[in-house]
Amino acid sequence: MRVRASTVVFGLLGLGRAAPTASSYVKAMPPNAQELFKESMVWMDTMYDKSAGYQYDSSAAAALRHDTRASIWYAFGLLARNEGCDAAEAEKIIRNTIGAQFKVESEEWYGDYQQEPEEPYVGSPAYPPKIYGTWDPNSRGFIGTTLVMAMEEFPHLITQDTQKLILESLHNVTKGDEYRFGHLDIKKDNLYPAYSNPSIMRSLVSGWTGRRLGDRNITMSAEKYAQDIIDLFNEHGTLSEFNSGTYTGVSLFGLVLWSIYLPKDSVMAQNGPRMVECTWDSVAQLWHPGMKNIAGPWDRSYGYDMNRYVSLMGLWLWTFIGKEKSPLIANPQIMSHMGDYCWAPLFAALADRHAKLIPESVVSSLAEFHGEHTFTASAFYPPFDVATRNITTWLSKDLTIGAESYDETVVGGPGRAQEAFNPAVVQWNTGHEVSFISLYPTEKALDVAVSPGKLSLSYPHGNSSSLFTFVVGTFRDKPTVAGWEDVQGLDVSVAGNVDLDYTLSFGGKRGGGSTPLRDFEFWNFTYTMPEGFLGVPTVELDLHVS
Ligand SMILES: *[C@@H]1O[C@H](CO)[C@@H](O)[C@H](O)[C@H]1NC(C)=O
Ligand SMILES: *[C@@H]1O[C@H](CO)[C@@H](O)[C@H](O)[C@H]1NC(C)=O
Ligand SMILES: *[C@@H]1O[C@H](CO)[C@@H](O)[C@H](O)[C@H]1NC(C)=O
Ligand SMILES: *[C@@H]1O[C@H](CO)[C@@H](O)[C@H](O)[C@H]1NC(C)=O
Ligand SMILES: *[C@@H]1O[C@H](CO)[C@@H](O)[C@H](O)[C@H]1NC(C)=O
Repeated sequence: MRVRASTVVFGLLGLGRAAPTASSYVKAMPPNAQELFKESMVWMDTMYDKSAGYQYDSSAAAALRHDTRASIWYAFGLLARNEGCDAAEAEKIIRNTIGAQFKVESEEWYGDYQQEPEEPYVGSPAYPPKIYGTWDPNSRGFIGTTLVMAMEEFPHLITQDTQKLILESLHNVTKGDEYRFGHLDIKKDNLYPAYSNPSIMRSLVSGWTGRRLGDRNITMSAEKYAQDIIDLFNEHGTLSEFNSGTYTGVSLFGLVLWSIYLPKDSVMAQNGPRMVECTWDSVAQLWHPGMKNIAGPWDRSYGYDMNRYVSLMGLWLWTFIGKEKSPLIANPQIMSHMGDYCWAPLFAALADRHAKLIPESVVSSLAEFHGEHTFTASAFYPPFDVATRNITTWLSKDLTIGAESYDETVVGGPGRAQEAFNPAVVQWNTGHEVSFISLYPTEKALDVAVSPGKLSLSYPHGNSSSLFTFVVGTFRDKPTVAGWEDVQGLDVSVAGNVDLDYTLSFGGKRGGGSTPLRDFEFWNFTYTMPEGFLGVPTVELDLHVS
């Protein structure tokens, strides 16, 4: 009863006065962040199912099922806005989410959150456990960090009962996360410290919860786990999961929380600010303000052109340099991967504190292209990397070429996802679109050389069965492509010891040789090796904007 009574009081307060705390929280955001906050919330309001206390699935492809993770992000936004019944609705969502948190300690998904209220119980006969399928271990991190933020930012808006419930929920998150450790078996959990984005969120939630509950074991295990992440970062000053329009954004989110919510005796508070700064140092060199893209290579990507899919780095860039200069379009909700737009209220809330961790000169360099340059870096992702990955990216006004040498135990990067791992990427401005050439990974190792206008690729462990598949963008002015000569705005010449007679096919939504990758239709240029080939397969691309 007390819960209901107090939530009504909060609701009335919001309606009665001009929501004093509420709008002041949003008004205190920098203007760009405020815009991101308001526009994303207007959209999310339309997806809220008040009777259920959940958001509908934003993809509009789920026949009105709901989405737990998007709901909890919206709940945070409601607390920040705190108008009318916002706080009461937020509390309803939080209680729903925690009500559906897995509670059986002997199950591997203990402490994890259901993905949608409609789904059968994980592990029931017709719904066997499948990691990243019927359950997503990273939901503990996504939802746990949101609950930590709600407790930090809005304790005055959440009833005591619900706060107690949140702490119990977070306690179970940390316990369930302790079941997680990396396996090489693809059917099992892959959370090594090198899996940067969830490992950073995990250590934040445990470090915060352990301190809050006065549980030294939880606190110490978080500190130890964080130290492993920091040690890996320190090897090359880079995240193991390096350069991703989406996941660099998650890692930065987690590192900002390390920096602002933990006391100075935590290794996370001590190292977070430097890691944020170093990460932005790389991003600033790879970000092309003219093409509104972070140049390749991408360890894990949800698309080939940030102007067409919602990326979390795009949201951060919106808060720092404004929507116009960010890759987001006027209505980001119709872009590919739009579900990530639901995270916007949290990014908006953190924007000013995030910006304070980055040197002013770095932020201002994001607005304009500063001329041709070459970026180099290394990164290391044990145990999948047999050797350090070496990255070279050349950026010029209308053309970028970025690639990484790697030697790994699997194909498709540590995530074993060929469509996500893009070890060699070319992007250029055709005048109508940003198009791309991306090597589709088919081998466990690659050697690269990148120089102005030139990309050389070879397979050190390759043989006569090797192939080089280039995923190439489509063109508004040339929908039907018959060969490299039809590629718009770029002259491509190919050399090497491959058979220069390539095959060409189309990956189309409505047909062709295959289906789109990450929603992107593409042309598939594939080179094979000549009969009886012996040696190291090599291909060279000479590239000039035309
Ligand atoms: C936390 O886990 C315990 C079992 O260890 C369970 O009884 C309790 O209901 C869980 N709490 C929540 C909020 O899920
Ligand atoms: C902390 O760990 C020690 C040693 O394993 C154990 O005896 C103790 O019960 C734990 N404390 C809590 C609060 O879990
Ligand atoms: C990256 O460079 C380092 C240092 O030169 C080298 O030891 C390593 O083998 C290289 N990695 C690959 C995958 O070639
Ligand atoms: C080439 O290497 C692959 C992967 O190691 C192997 O599966 C294939 O059989 C090899 N092909 C030849 C012709 O040796
Ligand atoms: C590209 O085409 C080659 C040759 O037809 C084919 O083997 C390969 O599976 C295709 N790759 C993709 C990503 O569609």
